[in-house]
Amino acid sequence: MSRQRVLITAVVVTIVFIGLAAVLAVIFRPVSTERVESGSIVRQNVLVGSTNPCVQCHANSTPGIVQQYGHSTMAAANVKCEDCHVVAADYPNAIAHEGTYVVNSPTPALCQKCHAREVTQFNASRHGLPAYVAVAGSQNLSETHLAQYLSIAEGQPSPDKSRNAIAALEGDAITRFTCYGCHNIGRPHEDGSAGECQMCHLRHEFSLEQARKPETCNFCHIGPDHPQYEIYTESPHGIAYHTMGHTWNWEAEPGLITVEDIPAATCAICHISGIGAASTTHDVGDRLTWFLFDPVSTRRPAWTDNKVRMQTVCMECHNSNFVNDFYTAADAATERVNEWTQEGEDLRVALMQAGALTAEPFDEPIDFAIYELWHHWGRTAKFGVWMQGPDYAQWHGAYEVLQALAEVREYAVEHLPGYVHPRHAETESGGGSD
Ligand code: HEC
Ligand code: HEC
Ligand code: HEC
Ligand code: HEC
Ligand code: HEC
Ligand code: HEC
Ligand code: HEC
Ligand code: HEC
Repeated sequence: MSRQRVLITAVVVTIVFIGLAAVLAVIFRPVSTERVESGSIVRQNVLVGSTNPCVQCHANSTPGIVQQYGHSTMAAANVKCEDCHVVAADYPNAIAHEGTYVVNSPTPALCQKCHAREVTQFNASRHGLPAYVAVAGSQNLSETHLAQYLSIAEGQPSPDKSRNAIAALEGDAITRFTCYGCHNIGRPHEDGSAGECQMCHLRHEFSLEQARKPETCNFCHIGPDHPQYEIYTESPHGIAYHTMGHTWNWEAEPGLITVEDIPAATCAICHISGIGAASTTHDVGDRLTWFLFDPVSTRRPAWTDNKVRMQTVCMECHNSNFVNDFYTAADAATERVNEWTQEGEDLRVALMQAGALTAEPFDEPIDFAIYELWHHWGRTAKFGVWMQGPDYAQWHGAYEVLQALAEVREYAVEHLPGYVHPRHAETESGGGSD
C-alpha cells in the first residue's frame, strides 16, 4: 500500500466516523442541551450607595444586616427596612427609634401585608400554633390564638403528655434552649399572629437556595425521635443531593420548578415546593396520609386528598405503578409497627391500672423503655420506611422496637398479675413445641 492510499483511507474512515457520531448525537440527544452548572447566584449588593437613613446608619451600627439584606431579592424589589420593622407607636413591643417606632423581631403579621398566601398556609399547618402547643399546652393562648388553633383541621392530635413531663423535669432554664429552640417555630405573638418565618428564611438574606436545602430542616428534624435528616442523607434522594446538588438550579422561580432544575427529591420538594403539576404550600401537612408521630398511627382527616398531592410530586420522577406499590408496602409496614406500639401502649395502661408503674413519670428505668419503644424506635422505623432509609428502618427502628418490647414484656411477667407472655400464649394454644 502506498502512503497516499493509506492517507486517503484514513481520511475516509475519519469522515465516516465523524458523520456517524453526528447522526448518533442527533438521535440520542438529551431532551435539553442546557444545564445549569451552579444554582448559586452571586448577586450585587443593591444597597451600596443607598440614601435610605436606616441603611446609611446601619451600615455602620450593624453592617452584617445591611450586607445580607442588600443581596436579597426583596431589596432588589425595593422592599425597605421600614416595610418590616416600622410600626405604629402603640404596636405591641414597639421601640421608639430615630424619630419612629420599630419592632426588633418582625412577626408574620408584617410579612402578611405582602405574603398573605404563605402566612395563611403556614397558619393552617402544624408548624404554626400546634408546634408551640406541643410544649406549652393551649391553656395560656389568647382567645384569638385559641380559636385559630382549634380551627386547624390536622392540628388537634397531641397524643401523649410524657414529653411535657420531661420539659417539667428539666425546667424553664433548660427548655428555653431545648424544646422551645425548635417548637418556637409556631410561637404566638402579642399582635395576634403566630410563628417564626425566619427559622427557615434566615434573616436577612431570605434566600430561596438556603430555604430549599435540607440543611435548613436539619435544625429541627434530627435526633432519635425524628431523624428525618439522617434518613434523607442515606436515601437515594439524599445521595443524589449530596453528590450532585451543587449543579442544581436552586433559585428556580417558586411554583415553576421542573425536574431539570432539581432532578431528585429534597425535603422541600416533597413537603413544600411546587414542582411540575404540584403547587407550592407552606402547609407541611398538606401531603401526608398518616399521623406518624403518634404512638399508634391513625389516618389524617384529609388523607386521600393529601395522598394525591404527594403522589403528584413523586410522579414527576417515578411512574404510577412504582409509586402505588411503594405506598402499599409502606402502609403495610406502618400497620406492622402499629401492632408493636399498640402492644406497648396496652401494657403501659395495664401496668398503670395494676399499680405496677408509679404515677411519677420517668422515675424508673422501665418508664424510659416504654416511652422509647414508640417515641424513638416506632417513629424512626416508620420514618425510615417512608423516606427510604433502610438502616434507620432496621437497626435504629424495627430492631430497637423489638428489644424494647422484649424488656416491657419481661417487666409485665414480673409485675402484672395474670399476664401471659406471647411465647407462652403460643404454647398454650398449641403453637409451641415445648
Ligand atoms: C442614626 C443611626 C440610626 C438610624 C437612622 C437608624 N438606626 Fe436602627 N439602630 C441604630 C443603633 C446604633 C442601634 C442599636 C444597636 C445596638 O444596640 O447594638 C439600632 C437598633 C435598631 C433595631 C433593634 C432595636 C432593639 O432595641 O432591639 C432595629 C430593629 C433598627 N435599629 C431598625 C432601624 C430601622 C428600620 C431604621 C429606619 C427607620 C433605623 N433603624 C434607623 C442606629 C440607627
Ligand atoms: C423582609 C422583612 C425584613 C426586612 C426588609 C428587614 N428586616 Fe430586619 N429583621 C427581620 C426579621 C424577621 C428579624 C429577626 C427577628 C428575630 O430573629 O427575632 C429582623 C431583625 C433585625 C434586627 C435585630 C436583630 C439583630 O440581629 O440584631 C435589626 C437591627 C434589623 N433587623 C435591622 C434591619 C435593617 C437595618 C434593615 C434594612 C437594611 C432590615 N432589618 C430589613 C425582617 C426584616
Ligand atoms: C412590603 C412588602 C413585603 C414585605 C413586608 C415582605 N416581603 Fe417578602 N417579598 C416581597 C416581594 C416584592 C418579593 C419578590 C422578590 C422577587 O422575587 O423579585 C418578596 C420575596 C420574598 C421571598 C422569596 C425570595 C426569592 O428569592 O424569591 C421570601 C422568602 C420572602 N419574601 C419572605 C418574607 C418574609 C419572611 C417576610 C416577613 C418577615 C417578608 N417577606 C416581608 C415583598 C415583601
Ligand atoms: C431538635 C428540635 C426539637 C426539640 C429540641 C424538641 N422537639 Fe418536639 N418535635 C420536633 C419535631 C421536628 C417534631 C415533629 C416530628 C414529626 O412530625 O415527625 C416534634 C414533635 C413533638 C411532639 C408531637 C407533636 C405534637 O404536636 O404533639 C411533642 C408533644 C413534642 N415534640 C414535644 C417536645 C418537648 C416537650 C420537648 C422538650 C422536652 C421537645 N419536643 C423537644 C422537634 C423538637
Ligand atoms: C419549614 C420552612 C419554612 C417556613 C417556616 C417558612 N417558609 Fe417560606 N419557603 C420555604 C421554602 C422551602 C420555600 C421555597 C418554595 C419553593 O421551592 O417553591 C419558601 C418560599 C417562600 C416564599 C416565596 C414563594 C413564592 O411563591 O414566591 C415566600 C414569600 C415565603 N416563603 C414566605 C414565608 C413566610 C411569610 C413565612 C412565615 C409565615 C414562611 N415563608 C415560613 C420554607 C419555609
Ligand atoms: C425551627 C424548627 C423547625 C424547622 C427549621 C423545620 N421544622 Fe418541620 N416541624 C417542626 C416541629 C416542631 C414540628 C412538629 C409540630 C407538631 O406536630 O407539633 C414539625 C413538623 C413538620 C412536618 C409534619 C407536619 C404535620 O402535619 O404533622 C413536616 C412534613 C415538616 N415539619 C417538614 C419540614 C421541612 C421540609 C422543613 C425544612 C424546609 C422543616 N420542617 C423545618 C420544626 C421545624
Ligand atoms: C421522596 C419524598 C420525601 C423526602 C425527600 C422527604 N420526605 Fe418527609 N415524608 C415523605 C412521605 C411520603 C412521608 C409520609 C407521608 C404520609 O404520612 O403519607 C413523610 C413524612 C415526614 C414527616 C412525618 C410527619 C408525621 O406524620 O409525623 C416529617 C416530619 C417529614 N417527612 C419531614 C421531612 C424532612 C425534614 C425531610 C428532609 C430531611 C424529608 N421529610 C424528606 C416524603 C419525603
Ligand atoms: C425530582 C425527582 C424525584 C422525585 C420528586 C421523587 N424521586 Fe424518588 N428517586 C429519584 C431519584 C433520582 C432516585 C434515585 C434513582 C435510583 O435509585 O436509581 C430515586 C429513588 C427512589 C427510590 C429508591 C428506588 C430503588 O430502586 O431503590 C424510592 C423508593 C423512591 N425514589 C420513592 C419516591 C417517592 C415515594 C417519591 C414521592 C414521595 C419520590 N421518590 C419522589 C427522584 C425523585
